[in-house]
Amino acid sequence: MSVLRSVVRGVGSYLPKEVLTNADLTRMVDTTDEWIVERSGIRERHRAAPGEFTSDLAVAAARAALADAGLTPDDIDLVVVATATPDHTFPATATEVQGKLGITRGFAYDIQAVCTGFVYAITTVDAQIKAGLAKRALVIGAETFSRILDWSDRGTCVLFGDGAGAVVLEAVWSPGTLDDHGLLAAHLRADGRHWHKLYVDGGPSTTGVAGHLRMEGKEVFKHAVHNLAEVIDVLLAETGFTAADIDWFVPHQANRRIIDATGKKLGIDPAKIVLTVDRHGNTSAASVPLALDAAVHDGRVKKGDLVMLEAMGGGFTWGAALIRW
Ligand code: UT7
Repeated sequence: MSVLRSVVRGVGSYLPKEVLTNADLTRMVDTTDEWIVERSGIRERHRAAPGEFTSDLAVAAARAALADAGLTPDDIDLVVVATATPDHTFPATATEVQGKLGITRGFAYDIQAVCTGFVYAITTVDAQIKAGLAKRALVIGAETFSRILDWSDRGTCVLFGDGAGAVVLEAVWSPGTLDDHGLLAAHLRADGRHWHKLYVDGGPSTTGVAGHLRMEGKEVFKHAVHNLAEVIDVLLAETGFTAADIDWFVPHQANRRIIDATGKKLGIDPAKIVLTVDRHGNTSAASVPLALDAAVHDGRVKKGDLVMLEAMGGGFTWGAALIRW
């Protein structure tokens, strides 16, 4: 019992009720179901109701994760929300979530790494757990991208959706081997030279309004496959695992073609890749925990399995994390 590991105690998610199909979008912009499915793999996505905020989605996912863990809000001493669509410019949505859950101890903050937000959050929370700053943390990815889309831009509005996913991480003393349960290793990267290839054209310090998402899709696509394969290769080399050792690959769900190309580059068996992009679209920081929740609760991910999480998004930011379930 020599090292502290961050072990996943529970997983939960929440999707808003409204489902927007590709057919619905053909009535809003000049697009077709065939184009969206062929270029992205997306068939439908969820959209938050008027008056339903990122913090509401996050709270619903957090409650589901707590129930899954058999814990209550009183057991939590850290709340982290990964989001690019906070309720307000400040305070952190995590404090609103903490308040709505009735948690009055510990600390709370947001992480802004866009689509990589959940991988950034789980990795930094792991470091804080290891440093003794928290014992049980709620790590949430929650987004309402429908609020920052330009609904007249067919190149972007068909790709994104709303949702939230959450995990409860708990500090557990472990032997310190790669057979331990919990987060075994992670790598985070950023390259700010590319910020303008995927960004929102507003903000408190520039325009004073939230703004709309702008993306050079082809550029993002190209960098995504290269960057994701590179960071996963680093993680495998560092831990001594091979692609064949991974039981479940839980990628960011931006585009089916990016997922397929990355899997192929790394030699990952397609049967081990968790896919939700067809049903959720790209939910940014919520996409990885939403996919994880699906694979855990349909029985695919089992105790002892090796699970690789990865994501890439605006900044550019990217990263990967390896968890023993
Ligand atoms: O979460 C991380 C961030 N995001 C991503 O990872 C997304 C990365 N990029 C992508 O997924 C892809 O680049 C897209 C799905 C965005 C686009 O696919 P593409 O194969 O790169 O298409 P494109 O942007 O080069 O567009 C091809 C054509 C264009 O027409 P022309 O110029 O060839 O005549 C577009 O105007 O498709 C047209 N187009 C559409 N047509 C029908 C663009 N959007 C649509 C649309 N419906 N919704």
